[in-house]
Amino acid sequence: MPFPLESTPKAAWGSVDKSAFCFESPYSAESILFESAKGIRLADTAGCEYIDALSGVFVTCFGYDCEPIANAVTEQLRRLPFNPPLHGTNRPAIKLARELTSLAPDSFSLTKLVNGGSEAVEAAVRLTRLYHREKGDKGKYKVLSYFHGYHGATFGSLTVTGRPDTTRFGPGLPGIVHVWTPHSVARQLGTGLEEAGTVALTLIEQTIEAEGPEAIAALVVEPVVHLLGMAVPPPDFLPGLRRLCNKYSILLVFDEIVTGFGRTGHNFAADTFRVLPDLICVGKGISGGYAPLAAVLINERIASVLSTGDDSYAFAPSHTYAANPVGAAAGLAAVRLFRELDVPVRVRCLSEKFGALLRNTVGERGVVRGTGLLYGVTLTAEPAMAEAAPGQELARECLRRGLIVRGEDDWIVLAPAFVATEEDLDEIAAVLGDALDAVFGGSQ
Ligand SMILES: Cc1ncc(COP(=O)(O)O)c(C=O)c1O
Repeated sequence: MPFPLESTPKAAWGSVDKSAFCFESPYSAESILFESAKGIRLADTAGCEYIDALSGVFVTCFGYDCEPIANAVTEQLRRLPFNPPLHGTNRPAIKLARELTSLAPDSFSLTKLVNGGSEAVEAAVRLTRLYHREKGDKGKYKVLSYFHGYHGATFGSLTVTGRPDTTRFGPGLPGIVHVWTPHSVARQLGTGLEEAGTVALTLIEQTIEAEGPEAIAALVVEPVVHLLGMAVPPPDFLPGLRRLCNKYSILLVFDEIVTGFGRTGHNFAADTFRVLPDLICVGKGISGGYAPLAAVLINERIASVLSTGDDSYAFAPSHTYAANPVGAAAGLAAVRLFRELDVPVRVRCLSEKFGALLRNTVGERGVVRGTGLLYGVTLTAEPAMAEAAPGQELARECLRRGLIVRGEDDWIVLAPAFVATEEDLDEIAAVLGDALDAVFGGSQ
């Protein structure tokens, strides 16, 4: 059933007793009770249909009815649903580690499988500290990360996250120091992005000097900053970070939980921006949404300290479900599809069309930024009615028209599935256009 504008997702809840369920966001008129899905479309229990222009949250990149992954998971569930992780591992996990390593840049030689992005970020931080200790630099423990970066919800990854609302849980991991991104600097100083990138690099170097390079283990960054509305860095910025890390013996960690696995039009954003980090965290789309799965991809230099001889490597502690066979089977099937569909090429082709559609649709009402199938719109026009932040208002108006995007502050982000068609992208842009008209009053 097409989405009835006057309806709200609330209609689908009926008499459902939800009082024992702890929601992610407070229950509201926008909370959907999902029932089923096909392709890039979801349906709620009242039968209303939603186009998912966010791939879940950067997860369901092969669509919601991906037979090859569903079959691989089902077969694995029947053959070996779990194995005692302290006593060995399983074939799919071994194979997946090889496949993910082969997608990574050449200097990467090892993959640690985990269950989610937060775990991957924490494992990466632990690895950087371990590496420095093994090399005799026992004092290196601090981690630099961006204000407004997002890295997860476990205590360590939450502290690395640079959002003010994380402090409500009290003190987090010690030694986390936040630095400003080019976009934040540009906003503060009113300069262009390239100039702001140079200023941001100077500020980061001053922070390194002030904190003491001998105490800093890692710099953890999202190559494209999601919670700034998909802030793509100016060209010299990530190479500049790499240079600073080299100069001060700091390990560079790319948190590619969102940007990895083809999302930016190459295997990893490291390839898109031609900057080689020491560790890459990858997750979300790598199982296509069919099992919790993430990984840390490790370069040879760091892998060398994990060698246990006999051509094997170990890094503990792990979580119980790390490298479980079902997640690994989902990952293997997803990597197979990634290769079959030639995802990076497909994403680059769709990106060109999607970027043009978005710029055309948004017009003077905002600035479109993005790469691959990862786009943000920063809204610059004045909303006609401002009950909430413009990004939230626009996301709400999209949802009222059956389109799922994410919106906060002054931005919305969109990340359609890799299997989206050109017609799907046209439809997404058309609904977005209607929603923009509703928020900003009339057409552009
Ligand atoms: C960049 C980034 N890192 C880490 C995480 C945490 O991943 P997870 O929610 O799978 O723990 C997220 C989740 O949105 C993310 O966007």
